[in-house]
Amino acid sequence: MFLFLYKKTDLKDVIKTPFTCENLTMNQPNQLPVWKSLVKHHSHMAHVHMRDLFKADPGRFKRYSITLDDILFDYSKNRITDETLALLLELAKASHLEEKRDDMFLGKRINLTENRAVLHTALRNRSNHPVLLDGQDVMPDVNRVLDSMRVFTQKVRSGEWTGFTGKKVTDVVNIGIGGSDLGPRMVVKALTPYTDPTLRVHFISNVDEADLVETLRPLDPETTLFCVASKTFTTLETMTNAHSAKDWLLAKLKDPAAIAKHFVAISTNIEKVSAFGIDQQNVFEFWDWVGGRYSIWSSIGLPIALGIGMDAFESMLAGAHRVDQHFRTAPLEQNIPVLMGLLGIWYDNFFRADAYAILPYDQYLEFLSSYLQQGDMESNGKTVDLDGDPVSYSTGPIIFGQPGTNGQHAFYQLMHQGSALIPSDFLAAVESHNQRTEHHDLLISNFIAQTEALMIGKTTAEAKAELIAQGTTLTGEALDDLAAAKTFAGNRPSNSFLYQRLTPQTLGSLIALYEHKIFVQGTVWHINSFDQMGVELGKQLAKTIQEEIESRNLSKPHDASTEGLLNRYIANK
Ligand code: F6P
Repeated sequence: MFLFLYKKTDLKDVIKTPFTCENLTMNQPNQLPVWKSLVKHHSHMAHVHMRDLFKADPGRFKRYSITLDDILFDYSKNRITDETLALLLELAKASHLEEKRDDMFLGKRINLTENRAVLHTALRNRSNHPVLLDGQDVMPDVNRVLDSMRVFTQKVRSGEWTGFTGKKVTDVVNIGIGGSDLGPRMVVKALTPYTDPTLRVHFISNVDEADLVETLRPLDPETTLFCVASKTFTTLETMTNAHSAKDWLLAKLKDPAAIAKHFVAISTNIEKVSAFGIDQQNVFEFWDWVGGRYSIWSSIGLPIALGIGMDAFESMLAGAHRVDQHFRTAPLEQNIPVLMGLLGIWYDNFFRADAYAILPYDQYLEFLSSYLQQGDMESNGKTVDLDGDPVSYSTGPIIFGQPGTNGQHAFYQLMHQGSALIPSDFLAAVESHNQRTEHHDLLISNFIAQTEALMIGKTTAEAKAELIAQGTTLTGEALDDLAAAKTFAGNRPSNSFLYQRLTPQTLGSLIALYEHKIFVQGTVWHINSFDQMGVELGKQLAKTIQEEIESRNLSKPHDASTEGLLNRYIANK
């Protein structure tokens, strides 16, 4: 079936075609009667403008917003009516979302291809109720590692832990990539106001030596502590950087005994850690039931705990736990991650929106969109379903973004007037961590104005009237042309998250909302959100190519382009 489909049409057609008789598979959402109802409903909604929906219903904001602790989630600027929501909720129910959510929390092996449970929620289970995996409670292990993180972070932060020459640690360098880098990097930046300025936290991820060289250049080996973070402890980039960091340290400290005072490891692979030469006592373990991109709550969070202290790290866990309880217990129509997920599906599958923007109006959240980019795209970038069949609808969108207001001066033009529909999330705090209120008021004015502009747009008549009011000398066709260029269709959807202050707890809640949104979408799309087979092929081929570069000899036939590039590199290096 798989080959047949791919022969007949190209991939883009396969994933964008809602109904064909060849690609019917029983468990896919587009086989559900409610999907057909949504297709029909969409053909009506495609012509409804949000401007009119707001005009017709003064209670729209109140009805389509939810408050969870200090987080306001406003989803009223979406192309939806009560009927849309009812159909989407029916889709969720028909996809067995509630049962599948419970299976995840209960430790069932829902990551089918890797035969693993998905229990990142146990890492932040602050109520400490037993979580059974194959009949065994995982909480004692979770709490043991949290305790060891507390002891270690206190020692380092207080200066009780010293480097090999007896000096206090001033710089922590996390070496990891993907899920072993993006989360801690994002949170350490996000919670800068909570960090200790005498203990700086740095990140090295890229195998490009520039990353290592430039990060280490200002640092002193005597006062630097490395956290080598890798779930597998085999990742090429991380291992290469860790070996070079070891050389850098030993070039000054000479004695291999120094490694025990300057290197700790965070991994599920204790054997490989020992082989690298890191003392068993300096290993912070986690488990195969924690996916890399969901591992921020595990010992992968150690650089965060070193930066902000263990109490603040545990507040972040508490914020996430709060959202777990909400996701498990709130009725679907009041459930924020469920609504986030379903709204995304509405645009992705019915409006054919291929991209999704995450727009924090908060410079501290500089790395939020790249963190969520991995979370979402590695989880739901799949075209094979849980039964091994190709999907016949689009799955995960392209996630991108950067902090407002910078993005406004870069890619918002396309969001306002481009041909693509790009739904978006706006996020901001009511209170800034800094003093100048005029900056913050300006920032928030832009946040609110952008969501308004995207929604309301500007008609050609309004644009023309504005030009005339401004005293334009243009008339006739020239005036019409300029007014047309200044027209905004509007009707571009956005969600807004407005919270009181970006605290560790609120940040934990926000991240967990997105994690569960991804779960909701993966469940409806009937795909495995917890493997990442798509990263393997490139790794495999890179290994062969690296050997060919080393031996200066092409050991296997490649296509003409690959061969041309390889020969050019070998000849000129
Ligand atoms: O190659 C992708 C990936 O496996 C991610 O899923 C993961 O977060 C990253 O590599 C790093 O893996 P590890 O923590 O095992 O080094």
